[in-house]
Amino acid sequence: MAKIAEPVLRNDYQRSIAAYWNAERDPVNIRLGEVDGLYHHHYGIGGYDASVLGDDQAMIAEMHRLETAQAEVLLDHLGDIRPGNSLMDAGSGRGGTSFMANLRFGCEVDGVSISEQQVGFANEQARQRGVSDKVRFHFRNMLDTGFETGAKRAIWTNETTMYVDLQQLYAEFARLIPIGGRYVCITGCYNDVTGGRSRAVSQIDQHYICNIHPRSAYFKALADNGFVPINVVDLTAATIPYWELRAQSSVATGIEDPFLTAYKEGSFHYLLIAADRI
Ligand SMILES: C[S@@+](CC[C@H](N)C(=O)[O-])C[C@H]1O[C@@H](n2cnc3c(N)ncnc32)[C@H](O)[C@@H]1O
Repeated sequence: MAKIAEPVLRNDYQRSIAAYWNAERDPVNIRLGEVDGLYHHHYGIGGYDASVLGDDQAMIAEMHRLETAQAEVLLDHLGDIRPGNSLMDAGSGRGGTSFMANLRFGCEVDGVSISEQQVGFANEQARQRGVSDKVRFHFRNMLDTGFETGAKRAIWTNETTMYVDLQQLYAEFARLIPIGGRYVCITGCYNDVTGGRSRAVSQIDQHYICNIHPRSAYFKALADNGFVPINVVDLTAATIPYWELRAQSSVATGIEDPFLTAYKEGSFHYLLIAADRI
C-alpha cells in the first residue's frame, strides 16, 4: 500500500470540517438511519406519499426511503461492477452508500472520511452486519488516500465535493482509477448561467461550512484529469419533493428554505455526473 500523507487533516479548514462531523448528532441523520440501519448524510429524490403527512414516524421513514433511492440511482451509474472489484466511497459519512454497494455488487468497498467519529461508527456497523472483511472505513483524506495506484475500479462522491478543491480531488481519483474505470458524483452546484453564488447558495455554504462549486468547475476539472462524462442527470426537480416533505417534518434543521429557494429560482442544481477514466 502506498504511504498515507501525514497528517490526515492538512489545514484549519479541514480541521473545522472534521470537528463538525465528529460532533454531528443531527436527528435528521440519526432518526432516519435508525429506520433500517443504513445511515445517510445526503438528500433524497423522488415523489413522496402524501398520506404520511402528520404522522411523525411515517414522515421519517418516507424521507429515509427517498435518501436510499438517491443512493440507488448513484449505484445504477457505476457500470459493470464484479464481486472481485474494489470500490471507494470518498467522504463516506456513516457508511450507508458503501453498505448498499457491497450488498448490490458483493465487492470490496473502502470508505474514507476525515471524521474519526464517523469512521469508528461505520466500522462498527460493518462488524454488526458481518461484512468487515469487505467493507472498511478509514480515517484518510480523499485528496491523498494512500491506496495503491490503479486499485479502484470505481469511485463515487455522494455530496462531498463541496469540501475540497476539485483539481486536487480528480488528480487523486485519476491516480486510483485505471483506464476504463468509472467515477460517479452527486452534488449540489451553482448555476453559471444565473451568475455567481446567489444569496440562498451562500446561506447553504455558511450552514455546512462548505464551498459550493459552479457547475462549470466540475466539467473543467474532470476533463483536465482524464475523465469524460458519459451521463449527466439533472436531479433538481426530483429532489424538490424531499425538501418540501422535510420542511414540514419534526427534523427540519432550518436550511430547508434556502435549498427550496435556490432550486426553484434556478441558481442551484442537484446534479449527477458519471464519467469514464480515459
Ligand atoms: C455530507 S457528508 C456525506 C456522507 C456520505 N457520502 C453520504 O452520502 O452519506 C460529507 C462527508 O465528506 C467527508 N469529507 C469532507 N472532506 C473530506 C476530505 N477532504 N476527505 C475525506 N472525507 C471528507 C466528511 O467527513 C463527511 O463524511
